[in-house]
Amino acid sequence: MSFVARLQADLDQFRRDGVYKRLNYLASPQAPRVKMEGRGEVMILSSNNYLGLCNVPEVIEAGKQALDAYGAGTGSVRFICGTFTIHRDLEQALAGFVGCESSLTYVSCWNANEGLCPTLLGEQDIVISDQLNHASIIDSIRLAKTITQCRTAVYKHSDMADLEEKLAAAKDARLKLVFTDGIFSMEGDIAKLPEIVALARKYDAVVAVDDSHATGVLGKTGRGTAEHYGMLGQVDLITSTLGKALGGAAGGFTAGPAALTDYLTQRSRPQLFSNALPPTVAGSALAAVRYVEQHPELVTRLHQNARSFRDQLRELGFKPLPGDTPIVPVILGETAKAIQMSDLLLEERVFVTGFGYPVVPQGHARVRCQLSAAHTNDDLEFALRAFKKVGTKLGLI
Ligand SMILES: Cc1ncc(COP(=O)(O)O)c(C=O)c1O
Repeated sequence: MSFVARLQADLDQFRRDGVYKRLNYLASPQAPRVKMEGRGEVMILSSNNYLGLCNVPEVIEAGKQALDAYGAGTGSVRFICGTFTIHRDLEQALAGFVGCESSLTYVSCWNANEGLCPTLLGEQDIVISDQLNHASIIDSIRLAKTITQCRTAVYKHSDMADLEEKLAAAKDARLKLVFTDGIFSMEGDIAKLPEIVALARKYDAVVAVDDSHATGVLGKTGRGTAEHYGMLGQVDLITSTLGKALGGAAGGFTAGPAALTDYLTQRSRPQLFSNALPPTVAGSALAAVRYVEQHPELVTRLHQNARSFRDQLRELGFKPLPGDTPIVPVILGETAKAIQMSDLLLEERVFVTGFGYPVVPQGHARVRCQLSAAHTNDDLEFALRAFKKVGTKLGLI
């Protein structure tokens, strides 16, 4: 079978298995209501645009100004001649926002994570990772293990007894790095940071938190998981994205002590061999950080929307996973059911993605709702009417 024929056969199998991902094309900016090609106006309940900043005039304007001031791009990697002053301004703002001394941006949080483990860990070291961590952390660990022969361990999701067991077993390791998501993207639950940090102190370990879904989201002023627990400044190392609450364009960063970001600048391969953020993105992200700092009411509104939507889903008879975050998963069981629900909701002009195996465990397929501060009460009512109609049709409520 030819190369292309084999790919085609696999793609056909994805379709037969009901796991083929169809892309929906948007013809307007990311917002609570968008123009979806072939469908007209659709409500978005499936985006990481948590604070609605993707389409805020100040964020867009800052991107345009950066384009005028710095041109299209760096034309080079950072250390050769690819760093603009706006990168430094953004990195200072991000560090201050998440409560760290310093930060270093990457073209994505995927890159930030990928650049972390293989750079920090060596043969005498171990990384201990939550079972439900994001794919980018998992791949970073796999890469580190292959390149550096570091040790790895996985603890059961948010199971502190298991984490302690893994830490105790790793006593002899030089660096013990505990890596966790801040908010777990498929469950919408929050890492038990106080316990994780306490265990890390007990066993002389370093804590890394990927706050991609928590930056701009958790805590009274959106500074993330640490602020949520009143622990700003107590996390050793934070990675996060600029592609969700902070303007939603792209980009990521690693924050921590200045020595860490300096070391990553010297040694992390995505820094050494790949261009820096485009100035437009850096400009928009910097404006987004400032916007969140000036508008904490957006974070309050996001929390209210999440609470209200979860409560109302429950009143309709759905069983969303309990939680305090704007990620509200409704578990449906089989993958086909989640995809059917997502399709039927789209017919009602509400866009919510269905997730099935292998993204989530077999039998735990779900539609994952994500709330935004930009959703109005009308938007939420519109979505809930659609959930009621589709839920009744499928015999779920
Ligand atoms: C927890 C987590 N980490 C990292 C990423 C990757 O972020 P980026 O889009 O900036 O590569 C995501 C994106 O989905 C995520 O949810």
